[in-house]
Amino acid sequence: MAYSKDLIDHYENPRNVGSFDKNAQNIGTGLVGAPACGDVMKLQIKVNDNGVIEEARFKTFGCGSAIASSSLVTEWLKGKTIEEATTIKNSEIAEHLALPPVKIHCSVLAEDAIKAAIADYKAKKTSVR
Ligand code: FES
Repeated sequence: MAYSKDLIDHYENPRNVGSFDKNAQNIGTGLVGAPACGDVMKLQIKVNDNGVIEEARFKTFGCGSAIASSSLVTEWLKGKTIEEATTIKNSEIAEHLALPPVKIHCSVLAEDAIKAAIADYKAKKTSVR
């Protein structure tokens, strides 16, 4: 199976690996698992007062396609508003990385992780009020 250059690049040089303090009010944390394979992805967003994502970090315990998908979305998330971030679709990730059909669920994991991180951030915000 031939993997795309972008996919191999993100796998070999993953961007934004790491963690933020999950208890901080401006951090949203998404932790999701793929039932099909057991891989786990943690994605965190740091949101400023204007609702713009300043930075994103990830840690993925999973396959190369999951690592590449999460690395790619940390780049895409930076500079986006929360609303814009919700529109990122797994199909865009899969297309950008040219994922083969058996690896589509790896990009679904990244979309799920974004949604979970946003939900966590929003839940924290409402609990403060
Ligand atoms: Fe399951 Fe990639 S094989 S996330």
